[in-house]
Amino acid sequence: MKTLCFATHNLNKLAEIQLQMESICSIVGLKDIQCFEEIPETQDTIEGNAAQKAQYVLEQYGVPCFADDTGLEIDALQGRPGVYSARYAGPGCSPEDNMEKVLQEMSGIQERGAQFKTVLHLCLEKKTYVFTGIVRGKILEHKKGNKGFGYDPIFQPEGYTRTFAEMTMEEKNTLSHRGKATAQLIAFLKQHYSL
Ligand code: IMP
Repeated sequence: MKTLCFATHNLNKLAEIQLQMESICSIVGLKDIQCFEEIPETQDTIEGNAAQKAQYVLEQYGVPCFADDTGLEIDALQGRPGVYSARYAGPGCSPEDNMEKVLQEMSGIQERGAQFKTVLHLCLEKKTYVFTGIVRGKILEHKKGNKGFGYDPIFQPEGYTRTFAEMTMEEKNTLSHRGKATAQLIAFLKQHYSL
């Protein structure tokens, strides 16, 4: 079976993808390739960060790999927090701080459209491939629900009356940005990188 590295230190993300790829190829994490360092993530776009991480691992460790990057893009804030989603309220901030900052910036604004975007960048030996998953929705005025993580309590996907934080993980995965990008990656690998 072919091996592919997922360039993340997040063990939950790794386990989730390993389960979905079981019959396609063997997914290993960074520590399996003896990579214990932080992977540089210094670009100013979501696409740039995903590419930087995947290319770094291929160049430094010589292993085919893919990397992801995700952000919440709010229309009325010109796409912010975007690539800065994890640390929008400053270094060391919590998800609560980030949501508070977004809610304050959105206070009094009627146009509340937003999207989550995940980019998966895959580096095989000589070629690279990019898969993008987007889910549209809106930013509520108050938090609702206590499941999920990050900005889930303030994001309500289009066509639903519940936020991501009011959905089970399975339900969220069927419609989420990450779920959509992963489905494309899996379909591609099934065709081009299995056995
Ligand atoms: P990452 O690139 O997956 O680490 O995501 C960057 C940041 O985006 C996270 O720290 C969260 O703040 C936010 N984020 C990513 N995915 C989600 C999601 O599914 N729900 C809510 N917030 C998310």
